[in-house]
Amino acid sequence: MPTVVVVGSQWGDEGKGKITDYLALEADVVVRYQGGPNAGHTVVVNDEVFQLHLLPSGILYPEKLSVIGNGVVVDPEVLVDEIQRLQARGRDTGGLRISARAHLIMPYHRILDALQEESMGERKIGTTLKGVGPAYMDKSARVGIRVGDLLEPDVFTQRLESNLRDKNRVFKYVYGKQTLDAQPIIESYLQAGKFLKPYITDTAVLVNKAIRQGKKVLFEGAQGTLLDLDHGTYPYVTSSHPVAGGACIGAGVGPTKIDEIIGVVKAYTSRVGDGPFPTELLDETGDWIRETGHEYGVTTGRPRRIGWLDLMMINYAAVLNGLTGIALTRLDVLCGLDKVKVAYAYKRDGQVITEFPASFKELAECEPVYEEFSGWPEIDPAAKSLDDLHPNARRFVEFISHKTGLEPAIVSLGRGREESLTLRDLFQ
Ligand code: IMP
Repeated sequence: MPTVVVVGSQWGDEGKGKITDYLALEADVVVRYQGGPNAGHTVVVNDEVFQLHLLPSGILYPEKLSVIGNGVVVDPEVLVDEIQRLQARGRDTGGLRISARAHLIMPYHRILDALQEESMGERKIGTTLKGVGPAYMDKSARVGIRVGDLLEPDVFTQRLESNLRDKNRVFKYVYGKQTLDAQPIIESYLQAGKFLKPYITDTAVLVNKAIRQGKKVLFEGAQGTLLDLDHGTYPYVTSSHPVAGGACIGAGVGPTKIDEIIGVVKAYTSRVGDGPFPTELLDETGDWIRETGHEYGVTTGRPRRIGWLDLMMINYAAVLNGLTGIALTRLDVLCGLDKVKVAYAYKRDGQVITEFPASFKELAECEPVYEEFSGWPEIDPAAKSLDDLHPNARRFVEFISHKTGLEPAIVSLGRGREESLTLRDLFQ
């Protein structure tokens, strides 16, 4: 029985929330495998808008298991707040499971995130300031504190005190800032631990059991391929592995257990944070798309940078993730534009480049080569096949398939769950 990984093929914000929510309808288990509260998924159900940061999209289906895997970094304050907000809206959160092995974001991680960004000046990454990078740094340095430690007050206290001694030295002597007291942190984290206790477990055991039993398991990536720590536009990346391989590590399943890998592709490109962006639109068209598509960060409220769809990037993502299909989103946002462009190659120093450059300096020097399409006036949200789309929109979709060698499995036609065109049943 298939397992499906959903990954972002660009710089995040491709509409993964909508696609995972849509696929979650069929899945039995939905697993988040990396990232933390830096993510922001918007899901619209019967005109009700839900903005999720740490909770997997499956949480909106009470009968399903929604798993926060070991690869995620959890800020307990954010998570408790998110759970309580859903409960206040009458949602049942009983299906949630949190990996005891997931690492915690501590208050000093959030502070360090801001201090590091500030000290980098113009070279700053443009992080979401949620403490995600510093939490993964501690994980790699083997001094991280894990979700399971919240259930063992002695262990938690000892680790926190030892870490805080080091962090306070950094605050005081490197940044000349105030130090933090251990006691209030211990109290609030252990309090959150009590609230989260019923949800904390060994989620790898749970997910592997579900796969063995033939259940449908959906792995939900946060951010996108170009923000991957190894494969993204380093150093303008996040500190985890959004690529499909990250699902294996971040959920504790073997690579042989993954059947389908779907790359979510937005009909244009957006990015928050700094770094090179070859197809960026710094003109009225970019502003128009930003406003029409409400392209403002769910987590930070920052306006997103906007550009045309870049197939060099999508082809790079296709290889790195081993994509078996794509889910195309936000065709509807482009309705009404006279012309729509798609980059399918780059030129640098007059030479055509066919591979996505590893160096961000090279990427910054690339000029996109565009195919231009006539726009489409509308998208029928009830379309049942590609033939029901306006011919110009259909040409646009066919061009993407032709240049990437990947067929769309899903085309999203609007924000709502029901406004989706399924071209292939991924769980069959
Ligand atoms: P961090 O993940 O907060 O450390 O930020 C690192 C980079 O990833 C910055 O450019 C952020 O804007 C970007 N980023 C992090 N999470 C998201 C997301 O969910 N969508 C889009 N960009 C993100």
